[in-house]
Amino acid sequence: MKKFYQVEWLDIDFKEFETLSSELPTKSFYDKFYARFFEKYHSFDDLDESWVAYKTQIAKRINAIVKSETNILSIGSGTGIVENALTNLNSSLRIMSIEPSEDASRWVRANPKISIVNGYFPECMDKGVSFEFAYANNIDYVFDDDEYKAFLKSVVDYGVSEFLIITSANYNLKVALSLFIKEILGALGIIAKLADGQFWGYLRSKNEHREALKHAGFREIEFNKLGTDTMFIRAKI
Ligand SMILES: C[S@@+](CC[C@H](N)C(=O)[O-])C[C@H]1O[C@@H](n2cnc3c(N)ncnc32)[C@H](O)[C@@H]1O
Repeated sequence: MKKFYQVEWLDIDFKEFETLSSELPTKSFYDKFYARFFEKYHSFDDLDESWVAYKTQIAKRINAIVKSETNILSIGSGTGIVENALTNLNSSLRIMSIEPSEDASRWVRANPKISIVNGYFPECMDKGVSFEFAYANNIDYVFDDDEYKAFLKSVVDYGVSEFLIITSANYNLKVALSLFIKEILGALGIIAKLADGQFWGYLRSKNEHREALKHAGFREIEFNKLGTDTMFIRAKI
């Protein structure tokens, strides 16, 4: 696991709304981020075309995996861009979308196939609701190792039998080399030091994911790539 830092996301400079910090972003940070996001963008059509195309690719991949499932759970759905694309691709799909930031999902609130629950999994779930299949798209980076294990265990304890993690917070040789070079350039004053940015979360290797998933009780674990930077990790009980 390796810490990483960011200064912007979706073309929004964090300094516009918050002082950069060496602490992980809190819910209040994400709330302020989304408030700025909705000032800048007014619909999915306003977003960078290549980013929307990337999210649509993710939705297509998820759709190919869910097959006959009709009720699925998304944990940490953000703006709901992937969930919206999924319901456009598959008319029989119903998605429960969990997202801590109350306003983040405003563009999908009117979609009758998406039900939004604000809060943290599993505390925010109503009793008696169950899902065979769940996914978490680009939220694994928020957890340190203990929290990640506890989160995965809570997914297993909830009764999910297949869990899909989609992540771009990868740590591999290429990433390690690139960080090493940036650290040297930062120390020489040629670029800003990485650690001067906002502490954004943790990068993980395949082995670290595998270990955490096994620890939680998953038995079958499969890794597949999407493009150069995104990993689909399919875990089954
Ligand atoms: C990088 S965004 C990804 C959003 C969305 N899944 C996507 O791919 O567009 C990370 C999201 O995780 C949410 N988040 C932060 N901490 C979380 C947690 N402990 N559990 C679930 N979601 C969390 C944030 O509010 C944010 O919307």
